[in-house]
Amino acid sequence: MINIAKPILGSEEKEAIAEVLDSGIIAQGPRVKAFEQGFADMCGTRFAIATSSGTTALHISLLAHGIGPDDEVLTSPFTFISSANSILFTGGKPVFVDVDPQTFNLDPAQIEAAITPRTKAIMPVHLFGLPCDMGTVMEIAERHNLVVIEDACQAHGATFKDQKAGSFGTGTFSFYPTKNITAGEGGMITTNDEVLNERCRVIRNHGMRRRYYHDELGYNFRMTDIHAAIGLAQLGKLKQFNRQRQENAAFYNAHLRGVITPTVPQGYTHVFHQYTIRVPDGKRDALREHLKEHDIGSEIYYPVPIHKQSFYMEELGYKGDFPESEKAADEVLSLPVHPSLSPADLEKVVEAVNTFMGANQ
Ligand SMILES: Cc1ncc(COP(=O)(O)O)c(C=O)c1O
Repeated sequence: MINIAKPILGSEEKEAIAEVLDSGIIAQGPRVKAFEQGFADMCGTRFAIATSSGTTALHISLLAHGIGPDDEVLTSPFTFISSANSILFTGGKPVFVDVDPQTFNLDPAQIEAAITPRTKAIMPVHLFGLPCDMGTVMEIAERHNLVVIEDACQAHGATFKDQKAGSFGTGTFSFYPTKNITAGEGGMITTNDEVLNERCRVIRNHGMRRRYYHDELGYNFRMTDIHAAIGLAQLGKLKQFNRQRQENAAFYNAHLRGVITPTVPQGYTHVFHQYTIRVPDGKRDALREHLKEHDIGSEIYYPVPIHKQSFYMEELGYKGDFPESEKAADEVLSLPVHPSLSPADLEKVVEAVNTFMGANQ
């Protein structure tokens, strides 16, 4: 079976975990600090704050920026549920902006029309590992005095005009096992802002600045040293992992026929957290079935845009009309692109897709 995702964990990660267990310092210790420093260096930011997940990184970032009840945050409806749910956790309201069909990211041309007097922030999502048009996002945010919280949970090491995703506004990352690097579970916030750095740390740890003195409502969203040790070992391999994903994607781009392959605009680096094709003519689900019969895993990220999720429609009253997100949900299929694929695996995937699409001549 060729799996859709495969974390690559070896002796380095095992030894790093054993060292933590032997040290007796298990939570929020020296490995967390080292992982934070290493990640900030990779991202090109002054600070990085480790969290228990990407979702809690988003939640903390929104709270640290003062997002709360009735505040509106613009984001994409074509993303993982956490992007929008993290806004709901604060009492704020996700306001959706449709995606650009070429990139699957927020359509920069539609952002401004969604701004109201209640809009406080824009949350661009760098979906599948391709950054949003951060030039336009930052320019709009500056003009309207809005905060930018980047959902870079799928975009470790990706760049827009040589600047890393997560270093434009406040960045958030996930280390879930399918991600380009993992920590088991975990997340990271990146920022250049000293005040925000401190606020995030306080919210992460029960609103506590002095031991057992609680100045505000906080949470336990901390990372353990066990997770940080895995993350640190993985961080050293991020460049190589990303390069391998890019090479795998280039092979698919060169050989797949009859489907629409991903676009990478000039000046962007795509790190291919997912390699996502569009399958035209309503053939997506049948292609997926065909791949399964040939022991090839694939996945639909995401089959239902957030405004069409039952909770958002029935409980929250979302209606909305986001045709590109809805079309993408009907057409997309992600193929295995992870670094452990062999040349034979890649050829097998190409052969299976092209045969099904009737394009194997
Ligand atoms: C776009 C996006 N946002 C947020 C998250 C949340 O991250 P986590 O699963 O670590 O909470 C994920 C990952 O699953 C994601 O893909």
